[in-house]
Order: sequence, then structure tokens, then C-alpha cells
Amino acid sequence: MALKDKVVVITGGAKGISRYNARLFASAGAKLAIADIESTATVASEVAERGAELLAVPTDWT
Ligand SMILES: NC(=O)c1ccc[n+]([C@@H]2O[C@H](COP(=O)([O-])OP(=O)(O)OC[C@H]3O[C@@H](n4cnc5c(N)ncnc54)[C@H](O)[C@@H]3O)[C@@H](O)[C@H]2O)c1
Repeated sequence: MALKDKVVVITGGAKGISRYNARLFASAGAKLAIADIESTATVASEVAERGAELLAVPTDWT
């Protein structure tokens, strides 16, 4: 748990590369904040499966 109690903020984490990174950070013990315009339901369940916390932040960065 190299990142235990660290907070990682990920933009665009609902899909693609950032969703993959979210799973990696969750497995490493980090707490996540994910900002995305799309639903974060899928990545949220993947993060929960790894025992990590997730704060979903609905965001449009345009
Ligand atoms: N996939 C690759 O192999 C690859 C390689 C090099 C660079 N990139 C670059 O990395 C970036 C991400 O690629 P990807 O394949 O993961 O894309 P993706 O489309 O799978 O994921 C992008 C994420 O950003 C979110 N998003 C888009 N517009 C948004 C907005 N206005 N506000 C908030 N969230 C928004 C989407 O909802 C999605 O979750 C892109 O800029 C892409 O060009 C990708």
C-alpha cells in the first residue's frame, strides 16, 4: 500500500487511460477524487472492489 492515505485527483477518470490509472491508484491504497463529465458509476465500483475510497466530482472542464 505505497500510497496509503494519499489523495489522487484524476480528471477524465470515467473512461480510457484515466480509468485504468484510477484502478492502479486504488490498488496501491490511494483515496481518489475523479472529475468527469460522464457517469463515474463503473469506475466507482472498480475502485470499491479494491477497497479504496472515491469522491466523484461531476465536472465539465470546457
Ligand atoms: N488512448 C490512447 O492510447 C492515448 C494515447 C496517447 C494520448 N492519448 C490522449 O489521452 C487523452 C485521454 O485518452 P482516452 O483514450 O483515455 O480517452 P477517453 O475518451 O476514453 O476518456 C476521456 C475521458 O474524459 C472525459 N471527458 C471528456 N470531455 C470532458 C469534459 N469536458 N469534462 C470532463 N470530462 C470530460 C470523458 O468522459 C472520458 O471519461 C486524450 O487526450 C487522448 O488524445 C490517448
